Amino acid sequence: MDLIFGRWRSQILYAGVRLGIFDALQNNPKKATVIAEELGLDPKLTYRLLRALGSLELLNESAERTFSLTEAGQLLRTDHPESLRGITLLEEGPHHYALWKHLPAMVQDGKQNAFVREFGDSAFEYALRDGSYAEVFDEAMSSFSTIQSAWVLDALQAYDFSQIGHICDVGGGHGYMLCSFLAKYPHLKGTVLELESVITDDTKLWAAKLGVEKRCQYLAGDMFKAVPSADAYIMKMILHDWNDEECVQILDYQRKAAPSGGRVFIAEHIIPDSSTPHFAKLFDIHMMCWGTGRERTQEEYADLLERAGWKYMKTWFPSSGLMGVVEGLKA
Ligand SMILES: C[S@@+](CC[C@H](N)C(=O)[O-])C[C@H]1O[C@@H](n2cnc3c(N)ncnc32)[C@H](O)[C@@H]1O
Repeated sequence: MDLIFGRWRSQILYAGVRLGIFDALQNNPKKATVIAEELGLDPKLTYRLLRALGSLELLNESAERTFSLTEAGQLLRTDHPESLRGITLLEEGPHHYALWKHLPAMVQDGKQNAFVREFGDSAFEYALRDGSYAEVFDEAMSSFSTIQSAWVLDALQAYDFSQIGHICDVGGGHGYMLCSFLAKYPHLKGTVLELESVITDDTKLWAAKLGVEKRCQYLAGDMFKAVPSADAYIMKMILHDWNDEECVQILDYQRKAAPSGGRVFIAEHIIPDSSTPHFAKLFDIHMMCWGTGRERTQEEYADLLERAGWKYMKTWFPSSGLMGVVEGLKA
């Protein structure tokens, strides 16, 4: 039942976030009529939506029909430090929702191009002409990065960073992960390389918010054209956006710019062996719909590294096992 009707749950969750229900409840419990008035909604339909959100255990409903946030519901507030609001708005919002209907046809035709079928362009090109999509996408990356960065730091907990002075996060978004590294390792300096459009609004960037602005530089650029020289490169959810040839190109630019002994860290949802169910196997289908990329096994990442001239070292896993960090060395 949950599989068949799973989309209902995600859409109910999306509607709650989209309408601002979780922010409206952030300070104190309220009745549906009060929330409806505050948010300009219909009171009767609002009650039914709140009741359904209660059934998903995102809200508590009292006997007097007053609603409050549960612990899971708190994660959907805009101002929660680990807010999942952005990723909810992206994944269940109209753009990504529309991609899934192309899945059966893509698998039949062998053409991985749902975004182009739906919007006429690849996602990054489309984002340049639809600011509303770009804004939701970038907020989603920042939002999801708060939990993913914790997994990456956990995976590399035992890593010796003393030989690394400058680390470059390629396609680093608003910089949450890089700034988390700088906050944890005070000797590190960092550069976020990103498309100009993503980093023009200073208010969205994390360096000052995480107190590392003196050691963090944001650099507008194109990873397919040039990357700055750095002792180590890190990429989270970058290679999964691209096909193998594109990945080898990205890795090759970094190897050429790295000094001898330089490192690359690839943080991704890594596909485990065939018998283990894993989020990465589902994320792979989203990537099939979204662009030219895919999720990969650790052996497939090692192969990409070797094809781009890096030496595969090892894959580091956090205790959650949800992401992995594949390490390469410029020998
Ligand atoms: C899936 S997002 C991941 C963002 C970030 N690494 C994270 O994990 O939150 C991919 C990022 O790659 C950036 N990007 C796409 N093409 C790029 C290019 N040619 N050069 C640099 N960055 C690029 C996008 O702007 C986007 O922020």
